[in-house]
Amino acid sequence: MPHAIFDTHSHYTDDAFAPDREEVLRTLPEHGVVHAVLAGTTMEDSAAGIALAHAHEILYAAVGIHPENCGDFRPEHLTEIRALAQEDKVVAIGEIGLDYYWPENPPRDLQQQVLRQQLALAQELQLPVIIHDRDAHADTMDIVREFPRVRGVFHCFAGSVEMARELVDRGWYLSFNGAATFKNARKAPEVIQVVPMERLMIETDAPYLTPVPYRGRRNDSTYVHLVAERIAQLRDMTPAAVEQATWDNGKRFFGI
Ligand code: NI
Repeated sequence: MPHAIFDTHSHYTDDAFAPDREEVLRTLPEHGVVHAVLAGTTMEDSAAGIALAHAHEILYAAVGIHPENCGDFRPEHLTEIRALAQEDKVVAIGEIGLDYYWPENPPRDLQQQVLRQQLALAQELQLPVIIHDRDAHADTMDIVREFPRVRGVFHCFAGSVEMARELVDRGWYLSFNGAATFKNARKAPEVIQVVPMERLMIETDAPYLTPVPYRGRRNDSTYVHLVAERIAQLRDMTPAAVEQATWDNGKRFFGI
């Protein structure tokens, strides 16, 4: 039986795919990619993700406001996200979180407030969340602890082994992408070796973070097997076993 790969975090709505989006998406199943989740970054992008998911059997959508884009957040956005979340093929709230990396990002207190509101919505709708945490580990964990009934995944996990263990204990998942294949990746390999296999997922974050040896190119899900190979190497498993386990985990996590 051909293997089935689940890319749990991608952005096929991105302009980088404007020239050939349909062609890329059409060919993914030939590369074993049978499911991909589109992470929403703005209200418009979340709606566009749903439309794309309705047009392509392999795609599912997450809806939400990325911390970089929360500067003009208004309470009515939450009402809109609630409505979008009812649509067919919407499987999560995301990507939401905190991003302290770029100094020009919205103020930290606003990012935190928007994250809290979206976590509360996920709790109300009983949907999992996709978390973006860049250089904001302590504050993100503090807010996650305020919502013990919410389950989610830290995408492109960049925290410590200790943080990974706490998230696993709380029932959360971790996902890894091309960043884990980079030469300067230190913490990710350590974490990948200790996290229970049933809590790991793989992703591209396409069009970003293309795995080695294609770093710098536009990323798409045909490269996600390289992430599975990296995890396989670190855990002394076969790539096929990693693809199978992360496929099962993705289906369970997103309720597909
Ligand atoms: Ni993303």
